[in-house]
Amino acid sequence: MQSLDMNLLSAITGETKLVGLIGWPVGHSLSPAMHNSAFAALNLNWRYVPLPVLPERLGEAVAGLRALSFVGANVTVPYKEAVISYLDEVAPEAEAIGAVNTIVVREGGKLIGYNTDWQGFLTALSESDFNPQGKRALVLGAGGAARAVVYALAQAGAQVTVLNRTPARAQALVQDFSSLFPSTSLFALPLTLQTLEERTAEAHLLINTTPVGTWPEAGKSIWAEGLAFPGHLSVFDMVYNPRQTKLLRQARAAGAKVLGGLGMLVHQGAVAFELWTGEKAPVETMYEAASKALRR
Ligand code: ATR
Repeated sequence: MQSLDMNLLSAITGETKLVGLIGWPVGHSLSPAMHNSAFAALNLNWRYVPLPVLPERLGEAVAGLRALSFVGANVTVPYKEAVISYLDEVAPEAEAIGAVNTIVVREGGKLIGYNTDWQGFLTALSESDFNPQGKRALVLGAGGAARAVVYALAQAGAQVTVLNRTPARAQALVQDFSSLFPSTSLFALPLTLQTLEERTAEAHLLINTTPVGTWPEAGKSIWAEGLAFPGHLSVFDMVYNPRQTKLLRQARAAGAKVLGGLGMLVHQGAVAFELWTGEKAPVETMYEAASKALRR
């Protein structure tokens, strides 16, 4: 690995193309390792660099992509929604979701926003035989991540119930998507012990989009202690650090099928990679690099 790193550094030239990650903080992101490994695997003279941006500098940072001839960028927490107002154009899916995680800088400096999270989610599900078509899905959380997941599930033909600690946010989400997907059953409920117990009894898929259980609070779970876990569920936890979250351990102990968030991270990255480079993403390489970066 040492020699590969040295090769990467020595190969930076005046021709090197740049992609960045706009967020705050960005220090723990797996994306630089994932994308730089992918560029190296395809012999592309490209680099992916973290760009820590303070909230009051977001507009300048986005304009800076254009000024500095970046090819594109990813956008992460907490700017996926706020970044939209600084872009020249937003793809229809990103517009509907209300969040951009990928920017492409076109010729002439035009900044186009995309959302690749929803595709990453669907690809990760299909890789693991979690087919959402015609299934009843419960989505925990109603933030930006939940919006991408609900969009994906509605596209894939699932029935979706959103459970959120702040019920008004779940209602607003469902209302937004109801007009976009008029033939999809979409419901909103408060996230309580009672609703969890009642709704999971008849659901097929449970998806956690909240950050509960993320390192360093890996001892927490959105599934309440003492509530029996329904073993018939398929459970997707968007949290990928740690890879085996407490929720997934609870689910597995009850015999449920489980899937962690790393696959979604890799696949959203793969779609972004393809938008920037026009090349097929080396998904295996990206997966290995992300797993390795997570172990560090
Ligand atoms: P993201 O863009 O990653 O989805 P977000 O917009 O901050 O982040 O949304 C986080 C979601 O996780 C919200 O639905 C939040 O619930 P509220 O709308 O009530 O804030 C949910 N969430 C975060 N911490 C939670 C906790 N400890 N228990 C339950 N829900 C939680």
